[in-house]
Amino acid sequence: METVVSGIRSTGNLHLGNYFGAIRNFVRMQNENKCFFFIADYHSLTTHPKPDDLQGNIRQILAEFLACGIDPDIATVFIQSDVPEVPELYLLLNMNAYVGELQRTASFKEKVRKQPDNVNAGLLTYPVLMAADIIIHRATKVPVGKDQEQHLEMARRFARRFNTMYGVNYFPEPDAYNFGGKLIKIPGLDGSGKMGKSEGNGIYLADSPDEIRKKVMRAVTDSGPTAPNQKMSVPVKNLFTLMSVVSDAATVKYYKEKYAACEIRYGEMKKQLAEDIIKFVNPIRERIIEIKNDSRYLAKVAAEGAEKARASASKTIRDVKEIIGYRKWV
Ligand code: TRP
Repeated sequence: METVVSGIRSTGNLHLGNYFGAIRNFVRMQNENKCFFFIADYHSLTTHPKPDDLQGNIRQILAEFLACGIDPDIATVFIQSDVPEVPELYLLLNMNAYVGELQRTASFKEKVRKQPDNVNAGLLTYPVLMAADIIIHRATKVPVGKDQEQHLEMARRFARRFNTMYGVNYFPEPDAYNFGGKLIKIPGLDGSGKMGKSEGNGIYLADSPDEIRKKVMRAVTDSGPTAPNQKMSVPVKNLFTLMSVVSDAATVKYYKEKYAACEIRYGEMKKQLAEDIIKFVNPIRERIIEIKNDSRYLAKVAAEGAEKARASASKTIRDVKEIIGYRKWV
């Protein structure tokens, strides 16, 4: 069995992009691999969440993981801050991570541009913490989206650098992993880009049917095709992409044909899309509510996950410290 690690930052509810880009793969991978799925709450601190919000965000994502079908009896489900060995490895890896390479990371440069008032050192070393998350379990597969490719490349580099520096072959180099080939990038409803937490263009797993209807009906389109088989504009293509993940094939085909024949009525298509999203999201939403109210269950999952994760992580820390040169006094 290969070891899989992946995490999601606890900054707001999960949306359809998280589901189709990540969570669905987690669920599919859990039976055939040794999986560690965690809530990256330390990573979420770069955005300075209010103390009153932090725990709520963690609870929400944990409930969402479970509601989506991640099975804590099969996979190790845990919260990053419950595993102090992770920041310990992060500290050790920081000694071999160079400021220059961290400053050149695309995500860091973007933050510098977008939030010049909060360029904290945690943002700079974000990839080091992420590398620690992964290699602490000596994982080989990391199911992440395209936006994380550079971070993963850095995790590989830090693993390799450690091995080279100490002349060992201790850390395997983790690879990005997409279950069943290509990942579908889930677009947002605002006609551009992908669905994101901060863009305000998303449909959340916790959205009520009414919220979903409202959001979908407001989605950006265009003024309609004017010639048969016209190329679709990006906003319209986005709606079809969303439809392709939640609606059945016949429905997608029907609206594609309507589009090709210039007979499409976007309002009608959106109504259908909204109902199909609701059909998919609503059972998950109901489970989220149920699980979120069950504090005992959440506490049990978190405690058992922490214990399993720490068992794996503390072995790595013992080995790594030995390799670095920490020896017993007597
Ligand atoms: N950086 C990831 C994201 O923003 C979250 C993350 C943190 C992660 N640590 C990880 C993903 C380790 C995979 C493996 O999506």
